[in-house]
Amino acid sequence: MDAVIETSLPLALYQRGKVRDVYDVGDELLIVSTDRISAFDFVLPSGVPEKGRILNRMSAFWFRKTSDLLPNHLVESIEDTEALERFGSRLGLKDPLPDCLVGRSMVARKASRISVECVVRGYLSGSAWAEYKARGTVSSQKMPAGLRESERLPEPLFTPTTKSEAEHDRPLTQQDVSDLQLEETMPVLETATRAIYEYAVDYAWSRGIIIADTKFEFGWIDGQLVLIDEALTPDSSRFWTAKDYVVGKPQPSYDKQPVRDWLAGSGWNGQAPVPPMPPEVVEATTKRYMTIYQWLAE
Ligand SMILES: Nc1ncnc2c1ncn2[C@@H]1O[C@H](COP(=O)(O)OP(=O)(O)OP(=O)(O)O)[C@@H](O)[C@H]1O
Ligand SMILES: [Mg+2]
Repeated sequence: MDAVIETSLPLALYQRGKVRDVYDVGDELLIVSTDRISAFDFVLPSGVPEKGRILNRMSAFWFRKTSDLLPNHLVESIEDTEALERFGSRLGLKDPLPDCLVGRSMVARKASRISVECVVRGYLSGSAWAEYKARGTVSSQKMPAGLRESERLPEPLFTPTTKSEAEHDRPLTQQDVSDLQLEETMPVLETATRAIYEYAVDYAWSRGIIIADTKFEFGWIDGQLVLIDEALTPDSSRFWTAKDYVVGKPQPSYDKQPVRDWLAGSGWNGQAPVPPMPPEVVEATTKRYMTIYQWLAE
């Protein structure tokens, strides 16, 4: 299995993100989830075979399941060659689009993006645990004393961050909210984020999975708020198993954990270039992404 690292389609490029190649097709976008992987904000030189397909299918799964809570950008996930051919001929393309797009591409409505990452946390983990340990706060909000690593929070916390090209994401301040003119929108984003997260938490729990945290992006289409980008994937969420959950330590996690663990222990100095991943780390990552997809969406 080869990883799809970058696509180059005969379409106008809208944006190349860390993971997705996004093409502009008028009112719509073709969002191609590649097998690129990022960790600590760096795109790694090696890809993870099948990762893009899993992200795309999992997002489509959650978009369909949550559309009653909030509309989203999904028009169609390109799941087979026939769908790809139909899409190509709809655009009047002479040549067929490459087969590697099947399963990893989504036709989505183009939105005016709200440049905020709507993070919600049900458990104390990752950067939130690090901040709590150091200062007793999470995203600058004072928390009860004596919480332990991975502990379930009394109530899910909404901890939005900036989404900026220029700097590392950081907690959104009142100043950011006013600079972005989001005073009226932030409470709406919070309500939508909580509703979708709580729905997904209940669903996942019925499958034996804990969604420790996740993040959403939203945009506007014709004056209507919509969920965009990806939804509840192992790139955007922490997934734990209920049966292995033990408070007071890090949990086995069905996401980028093998990559982060390897990178943190590899002697890497935190600057470009990131060393190539050993094949066993790549394989372990594909396996984890596949496993969580099967548990949740099959
Ligand atoms: N429906 C949509 N309308 C407009 N933009 C969208 C839509 N869905 C996703 N996007 C944007 O497309 C890009 C997807 O690429 P990807 O997720 O790889 O980017 P990223 O590296 O996470 O973030 P970025 O490049 O924005 O810093 C993101 O910038 C996302 O905000
Ligand atoms: Mg993204």
